[in-house]
Amino acid sequence: MQEYDFLTTRLRRLRYNPRVRRLAQSVTLDPAKLILPLFVRTGKNQRVPIASMPGNWQLSIDELVKELAQIRDLGIGGVMLFGVPEHKDAIGSDVMSDDGIIAQAIRASKDAVGDDLLIISDVCFCEYTDHGHCGVLKNRGVGPNAPIDVDNDATLTNLVKQTLVQARAGVDMVAPSGMIDGMIGAIRQGFDENGFEHLPIMSYAAKYASAFYGPFRDAAESAPSFGDRRTYQMDPAADPGQALREVELDIEEGADMVMVKPALAYLDIVRLVNDTFPGVPLAAYNVSGEFSMVKAAALNGWIDEKRVVLESLTGITRAGASIIITYWAKDVAAWL
Ligand code: PBG
Repeated sequence: MQEYDFLTTRLRRLRYNPRVRRLAQSVTLDPAKLILPLFVRTGKNQRVPIASMPGNWQLSIDELVKELAQIRDLGIGGVMLFGVPEHKDAIGSDVMSDDGIIAQAIRASKDAVGDDLLIISDVCFCEYTDHGHCGVLKNRGVGPNAPIDVDNDATLTNLVKQTLVQARAGVDMVAPSGMIDGMIGAIRQGFDENGFEHLPIMSYAAKYASAFYGPFRDAAESAPSFGDRRTYQMDPAADPGQALREVELDIEEGADMVMVKPALAYLDIVRLVNDTFPGVPLAAYNVSGEFSMVKAAALNGWIDEKRVVLESLTGITRAGASIIITYWAKDVAAWL
């Protein structure tokens, strides 16, 4: 056989023995760093399947509480609650009420699991408004292509009301997702003035106007009834530096953790944010469309769900996210 004198470094030596491979790893997945999104609705004994997200349901509070016990036992870090209210209106009153679905769900959750599982609320208005936009609408303009004008500062006032309701209900952390300018500062100020200076905020800091949210909008019944979210969520083609400006502002305004969303088509942003702001815990949201695509292929027998999911979450972690919000949290915790 030919001798190859140059071949002194053989990287395959790191791969023959599974234990050596394990030693060479630096990316590990941990159930405690996963957050599971859950949808909560009114009623009793309700477990309404979400057609576009097999294995996910809208749960009534009694069913939610049963789920939480399982989730805690799996060692998952936390859940992120989304409310589906009985009644929607122009400003999303339900989520600003101490008797609204999300306030009730938070109280029941804390009663059920105490400090053994983090109860996080997604802070937004789109699930609670009849028009499905993420705040108070200013004016629709004229014509089908008129830009959607969410009244930024009026929405800030309501975001403060919403988060104070959630704080009083006992939430462990709030996660504002509306991409409203100043939302973190307004919520931080509201908390600090009302005795909640200890409550952390995880900001959906770089959230893009993405088609990957399609199945979620079924799940939360929150699709905009007209227009889209491009006047407040980020443009996928925007310079990546704009994501850094969003993150920087949110940190200055008091965000304790930040998020990039979606995850898989935005791994460059995850990497950039983590490199630029080391030390700020970074979450990535593996969103509904990313879930449903893999689920559909898996249900057809076209891919190996477990391997594809673990590989995807490994990629998100390798890109720099230390927290992952994923609809697979229970499966992953069981697989690990
Ligand atoms: C807004 C919100 C959305 C998602 C999380 N929070 C929807 C949107 O911005 O349209 C999407 C999550 C997913 O697709 O899994 N409340």
